[in-house]
Amino acid sequence: MKYDFDKVINRADTNCVKYDLRQQVFGNPDVLPMWVADMDFETPDFVRKAVIERATHPVYGYHFKDDAYYQSIKGWLARRHHWEVEPEWMSFTPGVVCGFTMAVLAFTKPGDEIIIQPPVYPPFHNAVKSQGRNLVYNSLVNRSDGYAIDFDQLAEQAKTAKMLILCNPHNPVGRCWTREELHLLGEICMKHHLLVISDEIHCDLVLPGCCHLPFASLDEEFAQHSITFHAASKTFNLAGLATSTAIIPNEGLRKTYINYVSNLEAHLGNIFGKVATQAAMNCGDEWLEQLLAYVQGNINCFSDFLKANLPMVAFHKPQATYMMWLDFNAYNLREEELWLKMTQEARLGFNRGKDFGAEGSGFFRVNLACPRSTVEEAMRRLKRVFG
Ligand SMILES: Cc1ncc(COP(=O)(O)O)c(C=O)c1O
Repeated sequence: MKYDFDKVINRADTNCVKYDLRQQVFGNPDVLPMWVADMDFETPDFVRKAVIERATHPVYGYHFKDDAYYQSIKGWLARRHHWEVEPEWMSFTPGVVCGFTMAVLAFTKPGDEIIIQPPVYPPFHNAVKSQGRNLVYNSLVNRSDGYAIDFDQLAEQAKTAKMLILCNPHNPVGRCWTREELHLLGEICMKHHLLVISDEIHCDLVLPGCCHLPFASLDEEFAQHSITFHAASKTFNLAGLATSTAIIPNEGLRKTYINYVSNLEAHLGNIFGKVATQAAMNCGDEWLEQLLAYVQGNINCFSDFLKANLPMVAFHKPQATYMMWLDFNAYNLREEELWLKMTQEARLGFNRGKDFGAEGSGFFRVNLACPRSTVEEAMRRLKRVFG
C-alpha cells in the first residue's frame, strides 16, 4: 500500500470531538473513542497540499465556487457512480445536516408528516422534530439476512406524508439499497407526491463487492422529485471543513432551495472547504481504493473476533460505511447497566444505539475507521468484560 493507514495519530487536545469530549459524553476520559463518524487516518496528502497552498495566500476573503469546483464533483459522480449530473444542478451547502434541515424548512410546513427509517443517524430525527414537523417512523426490519424496508407500512404512511428522508447508504445499519428496493421506495413516494431527500454522504464508502446507486440516477421522475446531498467529508476526512453539495435536477425545487439558503446567507462556505473538496474529487480515486481495502480488513478482523469470542453479540456485516452496528440484547442487561459496563468497565466509547431510535436499544455503533492497532485494543477490552 502506498498510504499508511496503520499510522497512529494523536488527535487529543486538538478540540477534536471524538477525543476531547470523552469526559462529557462517556463520563470517562479514558474510553477508547470509536464513535463520532470521522476517521483517525490522515486526510490525504494531496488534499492537505491544496489547503496549505491556499493558506499561503495572505488574504482569506469571500470567495465563490467556480466551474472547476462543480466540474470536479461532476467528474467524480460520473466516474464512481455512473451518474451524469449538470453543474447547474449543484448548490453549495455548509454540511449535509444543515442542508436537509433547510430542505425540511423550505419544502414543508409545521405539522406536516415526514418519514424517516430508524434506526437512523440522530439528526434525521432532530431535523424534523426541532422544526415542528411530525415524525413518521417507517422502522427498518431486522431480518436474519440483514435490515430491510417495510414497504407495506411505507405505502400506508406515504398517503399522508409530504417528505421522506432516505439514508442511502444507511447509517448505522450499513445497507446499500438495491435497485429493486430503491425503485419500490421511489414508486411509492412518486404515487403520493412525496419529496425524497436522499442523504448520500456515505456513498463513496461502499465496501469491495458492493455498489451504491444514487436514488436520482434510477429514474427521471425520481430525479425531478428529489434532492440528493453529497460531500467529500466522510470519504476524505474533511468534516471540519463543513462543505457539501445539494444536487437538485428540478429547476423549480432548485430555485426554492437556493432562495432559502441565500436568504439565510448560508451559501458562502469557506475557501479551504472548496479547495479540499476539489482536490479530493479530482485526485482521490487511488487513495479511496486503498482506504476501502483497509477498512474492509478492519471489519473482517472485528467480525471474526466477535464470532469467535462474543457469540452473544449479533450483527450483519456492513455493505457500506466504516461503522458496525452491534446488538448486545442477548446479554439481557438494562440499558443503563449496559452503557456503564461498556464505558466504565470495558472503557470503550461507542455510540449508544438508542440515540438512533427506540429500535437501537441494546445496540452500539462502532467506528472502525482507525488503525488496526485500535481495533485490536477494542477487541481486548471487549473480551475482558463481555467475553
Ligand atoms: C447519514 C449522515 N448524514 C450527515 C452526516 C453529517 O454531515 P455534515 O457533517 O455534512 O452535516 C453524517 C455524519 O455522520 C451522516 O452519517
